[in-house]
Amino acid sequence: MRRGRFITVEGGEGVGKTTSLAFIAEYIRARGHRVVCTREPGGTPLGEALRGLLLDPRYQGMDPECELLLMFAARAQHLSERIRPALARGEWVLCDRFTDATYAYQGYGRGLPLAQIEALERMVQQGLQPDLTLVLDMPPAEGLERAGKRSAPDRFEQERLAFFERVRTGYLARAREAPERCCVIDAARPPAQVEAAIQAALAPLLEEA
Ligand SMILES: Nc1ncnc2c1ncn2[C@@H]1O[C@H](COP(=O)(O)OP(=O)(O)O)[C@@H](O)[C@H]1O
Ligand SMILES: [Mg+2]
Repeated sequence: MRRGRFITVEGGEGVGKTTSLAFIAEYIRARGHRVVCTREPGGTPLGEALRGLLLDPRYQGMDPECELLLMFAARAQHLSERIRPALARGEWVLCDRFTDATYAYQGYGRGLPLAQIEALERMVQQGLQPDLTLVLDMPPAEGLERAGKRSAPDRFEQERLAFFERVRTGYLARAREAPERCCVIDAARPPAQVEAAIQAALAPLLEEA
């Protein structure tokens, strides 16, 4: 059996990742594929516990390298317990954030050397990359405004606007460096237009499947 496809959805706070993931799952299921929806950090019981630590505003003083290692610790568990087994069963895996988020937040946002992230990526992923990454892009101030209507801000959402501008720059740089994998979607538009752009980006994967 051919392995399933691995699709990641990326972007800053409030750009519509979680909203889009639900739409994408429905769209792909309607075309006859089995779909696993998951998220990072998290996706497994251990990973969700690490997510709790990572997002908790009480740990405002978390060292950036501690943050980076916890992200990859959760990812290692996620890959071995959930993502790789699902792909091996032929299921499609949709993940709300993945390693591009680590480059954007811990690399561009926190200023950690990208080479360190690359080293951890090699160790944990062993060459596994998403087949498609949808980078939902919009001005951070607008995304935060959307996210603000949701709930109390987590540890990341408490960052300043300049941090989220660097995160956005990081995502766009990643997308430019891997154009065969990444598709940048203008997420500031109404939901129907965002969905149409996502459908177009999914078409090549669905046609070959
Ligand atoms: N295209 C859109 N236009 C306007 N509001 C949107 C759009 N997409 C999502 N939203 C709303 O913005 C908020 C944040 O969306 P969400 O999917 O939770 O973002 P993320 O997961 O990227 O943080 C939600 O209230 C959602 O309903
Ligand atoms: Mg979300």
